Amino acid sequence: SKKPIRVAVTGAAGQICYSLLFRIAHGDMLGYDQPVILHLIDIPAAQKALKGVAMELGDCAFPLLQGIVCTDDLKVGFTDVEAALLVGAKPRGKGQERGDLLKDNAKIFIPQGKALSDYAHRDVRVLVVGNPANTNALITATHAVSLPKKNFAAMTRLDHDRAVWQVAEKTGSVVADIAKVVVWGNHSPTMSPDLAWATVKGKRALDLVGEEWYTKTFIPRVQKRGAEIIENRGLSSAASAGNAALEHMRSWFLGHKHDWVSFGIWSNGNTYNVPEGLFYSFPVTVENKEWSVVNGLTITAEQQRKMTVTANELLEERKAIEDLLKI
Ligand code: NAI
Repeated sequence: SKKPIRVAVTGAAGQICYSLLFRIAHGDMLGYDQPVILHLIDIPAAQKALKGVAMELGDCAFPLLQGIVCTDDLKVGFTDVEAALLVGAKPRGKGQERGDLLKDNAKIFIPQGKALSDYAHRDVRVLVVGNPANTNALITATHAVSLPKKNFAAMTRLDHDRAVWQVAEKTGSVVADIAKVVVWGNHSPTMSPDLAWATVKGKRALDLVGEEWYTKTFIPRVQKRGAEIIENRGLSSAASAGNAALEHMRSWFLGHKHDWVSFGIWSNGNTYNVPEGLFYSFPVTVENKEWSVVNGLTITAEQQRKMTVTANELLEERKAIEDLLKI
């Protein structure tokens, strides 16, 4: 049988992880023949709650779960891990400025980047979920000096999957019929969900949904879906965010060749006029654990404008923490 893979998850005592961890342990992320050892990381004040989560994981008697490590120590947490999902982050305080939020999060992601660099498996894949995810990914990756930037990503899969569902619902089709959806840019309301190449059973999605629905309903709905969930559920997206994190990692480890998917990745070398030195969401395909950006798409002037708006926001975020970056 296969050797177990060590999977680190931060924020492990939080809401997203309360669904995510159980599905990783069940095999939904790395495959139903791949044993895992979970490294659960959270802050000291959350260790008791974390112990409770670990007890419940054990109580599921998952055949693929071969060990559980609970810790607040990043060396213990990241040693030999081949997958790291950085979910824990500091939420915005009441009336807090965005710049201060970015700096508070930098304090979390700088040591995590260093510890990944020092202790993780050399082939580790790191997904940043905690917000502001793209800039947190930038901080983590730049401080992980011994690891390639292509091994880091910010999660925009939830935005991507939200977009896919909207198209399926609108066209009365099923998710498997939808292809070539793209989400560009930042995981924030400036993101640019784009249906220019999307198809429904091979037919052009834009012809089926119409320009009016696309611009007036679809784009703002995907951009503001997080707020819509909070408005209805009274809590932020958790199970869907956990699912997206799992699906992102599944695509990364097991491949995603049949269709495009959105990854927030290092922008250097891109062919879409996106400034370099950012973690920016692009359409990718994945093979042998390596993503490749889908190149050669013709971008309209209007679409390029939207891609610049979200890039500019990322440049501003970077500016707020520039002195903390290690480039
Ligand atoms: P939560 O507040 O329920 O849990 C966060 C957990 O992180 C807590 O247990 C906390 O103790 C822990 N934590 C804080 N600082 C830490 C540190 N330095 N090291 C390890 N753990 C630490 O939050 P929830 O709902 O689970 O969300 C987590 C993050 O995911 C938030 O930043 C949220 O904004 C983000 N998110 C991102 C999405 C995306 O699409 N990229 C979608 C939904 C949420």
